[in-house]
Amino acid sequence: MGDRTLRQMFAGDASRVASLTRMVRVDDCELFVDFSKQRIDAAALAELVDAAGDAGVFDMVGRMVAGEVVNATERRAATHMAMRAGSEKTATRALLDEAAVLDRELRATVDAVPDSVTHVINLGIGGSDLGPALLCDALAAMRPPLRTVRFASNVDPLDLDRAIAGCDPRNTLFVVCSKTFGTIETLANARRAAAWLRAGGVDDARAHMIAVTSEAPRVAESGLPIGRVLGFPTSVGGRFSVSSSVSLSVALGYGIGAFEQVRDGMRLIDEHFVAAAPSDNVPLLVGLMWWWNSAVLGHSSIAVVPYSAALGLLPAYLQQLVMESNGKSVDHEGRPVATSSPVVLGGTGTNAQHAFFQMLHQGTQIVPCDFIGHSSALGSSAGDHDTLVANMFAQSAALAFGVTADEVGGDEGLRAHRATPGDRPSTTILVSRLTPRTLGALIALYEHATVVQGVMFGVNSFDQWGVELGKQLAGRVVRSINGTATGDSDASTTRLVEHHRQWRNRL
Ligand code: F6P
Repeated sequence: MGDRTLRQMFAGDASRVASLTRMVRVDDCELFVDFSKQRIDAAALAELVDAAGDAGVFDMVGRMVAGEVVNATERRAATHMAMRAGSEKTATRALLDEAAVLDRELRATVDAVPDSVTHVINLGIGGSDLGPALLCDALAAMRPPLRTVRFASNVDPLDLDRAIAGCDPRNTLFVVCSKTFGTIETLANARRAAAWLRAGGVDDARAHMIAVTSEAPRVAESGLPIGRVLGFPTSVGGRFSVSSSVSLSVALGYGIGAFEQVRDGMRLIDEHFVAAAPSDNVPLLVGLMWWWNSAVLGHSSIAVVPYSAALGLLPAYLQQLVMESNGKSVDHEGRPVATSSPVVLGGTGTNAQHAFFQMLHQGTQIVPCDFIGHSSALGSSAGDHDTLVANMFAQSAALAFGVTADEVGGDEGLRAHRATPGDRPSTTILVSRLTPRTLGALIALYEHATVVQGVMFGVNSFDQWGVELGKQLAGRVVRSINGTATGDSDASTTRLVEHHRQWRNRL
């Protein structure tokens, strides 16, 4: 490959597009994945696939399917594929049996919610928010909701205020979604929600609150008026939990059938991931390209840009998935690793073009991109949808091939400013039609790409110890603000607390 630019690589190889594109079928739709604008050639890609084997990627896939412990620091398996598995291709018999019981509970819970419930409010954060929110937002573009679904995640009181605005407590159901049932944001919102129900004349708040958790005993300890508890296994990580009962709000808002179709699409990609030849394995190749761009080419960020209003929440979802999974400094044995998660930024195209794309085209840092789009329009103008898709293709071409000062022409003094260097890599995923199934397929594709990237970095993609310290400190600072503890913070935090205490009651 040498130091050839993308322009040179395209000019020198007529078969480049054929050798660096892949197709996956999902039900009656297709995903066409174009790696040809990545700074790699077919020979280097083949070496990368071999490196994946050496790094233990295929071993990891087998261990996940077998339900073995892959998350050593928490002594847990990673069984998210079992949540949508249909056969022993992607989960063991024991895991399938467990998933079937959970699925029956999910269906019974959905059936038990009366039609009088018109509003569902999901209270959860991180993985207990981002996946269901992405699904609801995307499904809303495909079918009318059965019920209005809203999300409150932040402990910022405004978040819940906005979610309940205009709701009638008698017709509102809260889904308190927390894997650990110990997350302060979610519990604080659940307590306020219970108070709002009671203040609104609801005698039995328990009939309006359902918990989704892996820690059922903590529901009783919380003292919250929860009428029903839906479980999922601790071996399903929060950011990998979208296909579990964590998506109860999705099933209530868009129907269990729509959620089932999302899971079908995920399962089809799981089956592809565990069985496809490595050189044709799309989630593997997406994860390997991420790793190649970070670890080999040294790019410290990536941008994820869906050209689809329906996928507007995908960048936020992927930020947690990739950065919480792979933003680590040590390997499984606690030894330092050289590289880990890139910064994931993103936004919807074309809006992102008018926000941060200037830097992608001409900035001093190179930010590899994933472009995601679909050929069939969801909105009411196929012509405008063509313009949308055209912009996506044009951006990847502009990034890859740029324009030289000579080609720009015109005013001599402006040529250096108008030239764009090109040679900036991207992958394009073009879906024939965005359906619940292809939505699920995209999500599963990115779950697996994240795990592949993590194995290549040598990190444990399933723990998140880094977020713990901040949580502990927050508890201490809350006590300082309340005046129940003092003197145990650093000087900067102490001064900030003093100002806050003085100012919080100022009109
Ligand atoms: O941010 C840390 C984290 O633990 C995430 O991993 C998780 O998705 C989120 O908090 C919410 O956790 P829980 O579902 O346990 O409330």
